[in-house]
Amino acid sequence: MRDARTMRTKVLIRRAAIERRVREVARQIARDFKGQRVHLVGVLKGACIFLSDLVREIDLETSIDFIAVASYGRGRESTGQVRLLKDLDSSIAGLNVILVEDILDTGLTLSYLLRVLRQRRPKTLRVAALLDKPAQRREEVQADYVGFTIPNEFVVGYGLDYAERYRNLKDVCILRTASR
Ligand code: PRP
Repeated sequence: MRDARTMRTKVLIRRAAIERRVREVARQIARDFKGQRVHLVGVLKGACIFLSDLVREIDLETSIDFIAVASYGRGRESTGQVRLLKDLDSSIAGLNVILVEDILDTGLTLSYLLRVLRQRRPKTLRVAALLDKPAQRREEVQADYVGFTIPNEFVVGYGLDYAERYRNLKDVCILRTASR
């Protein structure tokens, strides 16, 4: 693994554009579930910032829960394995569940989570992903609500990390090895 000091970030999506798009996605969700309650399930840790912004823009009755999985370890490449680290606190049976992801990449995580959550009999199950990187897809899955479709670059910020760093960046940034 590269030393973190040799990495450079370049802005891909600015904070203002993220804010605008999050509001649009929230409005779409409010239209789709008019008069109903939605239960947002955030996939820790990356989705925590997207979820906290999204839920405040949804003009409906809402509730939230979190689930934690690991698929990447500390490197930049997917291990191809998904592990459940923390389960939901409560039942989702009969609820309008929206699984909230920061990024849909290979699709391995989402495919695993959809399998697990469908078995629990939600009334509806949809997916909101801030970022979609279709170039890396290994499983045939897609999100119902996508913030931005992005090129095949490693991105950090707005919840996304590299070895647990950069989650606090306000913009979504491309992380590249700096030429020295
Ligand atoms: C990231 C991201 C998604 C998953 C997407 O999580 O938050 O959950 O990878 O990748 P995939 O489509 O290739 O499965 P990560 O395991 O890095 O954990 P984190 O959310 O704690 O950063």
